[in-house]
Amino acid sequence: MCGIVGYTGGKDCVDIIIDGLKKLEYRGYDSAGIAFEEDKGIDILKAVGRVDNLEKLVRAGKVKSHCAIAHTRWATHGKPSVLNSHPHCDCKGEVAIVHNGIIENYDELKKELSSKGHKFASETDSEAAAHLIEEELKKQKDFFKAFASAVKKLKGAYALAATYKNAPGVICVAKKQSPLVIGQGKGEYYLASDVPAFLNHTNKAIFLEDGDLAKITCGACEIYNLAGVKQSRKVNVIKWNPATAQKGGYKHFMIKEIFDQPQATKDTISTLPPDIKKAFGITPAAARKIKGLYIVACGTAYHAGLCAKYVIEHFAKLPVEVETASEFKYRSINFQKDWLFIAVSQSGETADTLAALNNAKQAGLKALSICNVVGSTITRASDYTVYTHCGPEISVASTKAFTSQLAVLYSFALNIAKEQGSLAKTAFDKLYKEFKNLPSLIEQTLKDAQQIKKLAKAVYKSNSYIFLGRNAAFPIALEGALKLKEISYLHAEGFAGGEIKHGPIAIIDKGMPVVALAPKGELYEKMLSSCQEVGARGAKLITVTNTPLKGAVEVPYTNEYLFPILAVVPLQLLAYYVSDLRGREIDRPRNLAKSVTVE
Ligand code: AGP
Repeated sequence: MCGIVGYTGGKDCVDIIIDGLKKLEYRGYDSAGIAFEEDKGIDILKAVGRVDNLEKLVRAGKVKSHCAIAHTRWATHGKPSVLNSHPHCDCKGEVAIVHNGIIENYDELKKELSSKGHKFASETDSEAAAHLIEEELKKQKDFFKAFASAVKKLKGAYALAATYKNAPGVICVAKKQSPLVIGQGKGEYYLASDVPAFLNHTNKAIFLEDGDLAKITCGACEIYNLAGVKQSRKVNVIKWNPATAQKGGYKHFMIKEIFDQPQATKDTISTLPPDIKKAFGITPAAARKIKGLYIVACGTAYHAGLCAKYVIEHFAKLPVEVETASEFKYRSINFQKDWLFIAVSQSGETADTLAALNNAKQAGLKALSICNVVGSTITRASDYTVYTHCGPEISVASTKAFTSQLAVLYSFALNIAKEQGSLAKTAFDKLYKEFKNLPSLIEQTLKDAQQIKKLAKAVYKSNSYIFLGRNAAFPIALEGALKLKEISYLHAEGFAGGEIKHGPIAIIDKGMPVVALAPKGELYEKMLSSCQEVGARGAKLITVTNTPLKGAVEVPYTNEYLFPILAVVPLQLLAYYVSDLRGREIDRPRNLAKSVTVE
């Protein structure tokens, strides 16, 4: 996730652009840059870190311009650096582009363009777009037509904006799967990844649709589809209050991030082809030599690892040890040298996880990290890294990072199972197809948010909550409890369904909310018996299942090992609504920090 801003019109747009970038910093803040038209052509300024650093350069340069595009970055391909930050240029510095999304065929494009003599300056996927436009401009002089031909060659997701030295005042844009909205002013147009970037200047917004291309000048915004047919798009009047608009109109970042999950998992899954080398950097030969796995993480990321244990053991038949990093690092482990170490961390900076990873590395193990922050310390200490592509997670309570971590680990489980010969090609293909559909299943699950809100209203006065799950859904019970306790400050505990009769059932009291996860499958009946046991003691049962069951919350049906990724969504919503009804400070719960960098 990155943020794009643009302006063309009669005003000096420097303040507009800087203000717009600051409003979009929630989408990325590892570097920022601006391409502005001035008398001699296009000038570019870039800075690593927050937009404030770019602003200092812009102010020092006394920049003035009437047409500019800019970008605040959340690195996906290539570490945060000046070279990798946007805007990117063609070889002559005449075309500048900013991009949000992932260009999936950038490798092929880069090879092809390099063979034609193009020189690439960055490690990004995005730069290919600038060189492609340059190449198309050799065939025809019209900037918009050349831009459109270049866009047709892109695969993947993009919100793309470009300017060209020989077409002053013109911004060309294209959208597919990444957001792009145009703001309409008087004799001026704005462009942004999200409305708050221009809401202080105009509340008239044109939301582009996938496949749209637009040519924007100060006096007109012409929209076409990829076939060149003119499109008409509604001008919407936005009634949001600029102060809450950064949260996309949501009350808190947490609920916004819960609803971001279809996009976050889609962006993550788009980088995970059914090929262990391409998705994880591990060669098939190396994958076949792996005899077991240590998965180490903290908090929510630990729950993702614990869930992966069930999935990997089931599909790949490999032994998996999962532990919280704060315990793992103090154990005297006789490390198995042919086991792979996996660190899971949203921030990539968690001190306990890093210490555990360093122990494993010192013992001579290879390490794979699954992180959300490009270039973070844990990624630098690892042999292999796979990123979740969630964009910044602002709320302290992790939600979208969790489902994306689960997606990466699920893909890993299937890929390693295939390489180890424990999953036949046909079964693998079928499971992978189902996996690719996950984002739309999450979207479907989110449609039941109102049902969860009603359930929250029925239980929020309780001071104690129990979550039950078995098998791969057991870690989701732990995660549901963690989510609720960290933002509501209420007592919540997760148990394995079969374990409650060994003690915890003693605390079940009349009216106590018990959330039971019961996917259709081998343990469905067993889970229903656990429900009866607590129900008979007066518990207020909330069942989450994937099969019709009276009064239950139903998520779409999938194989039992994908169920956890869907089942956690109602639990996140429940935690959110209960805490909101309790009037808690949801995005910044007391005593907690987003990233725990001390051991
Ligand atoms: C999640 O809601 C928590 N805030 C916390 O448990 C978190 O998952 C944990 O501290 C690990 O952080 P990391 O993923 O950045 O390593």
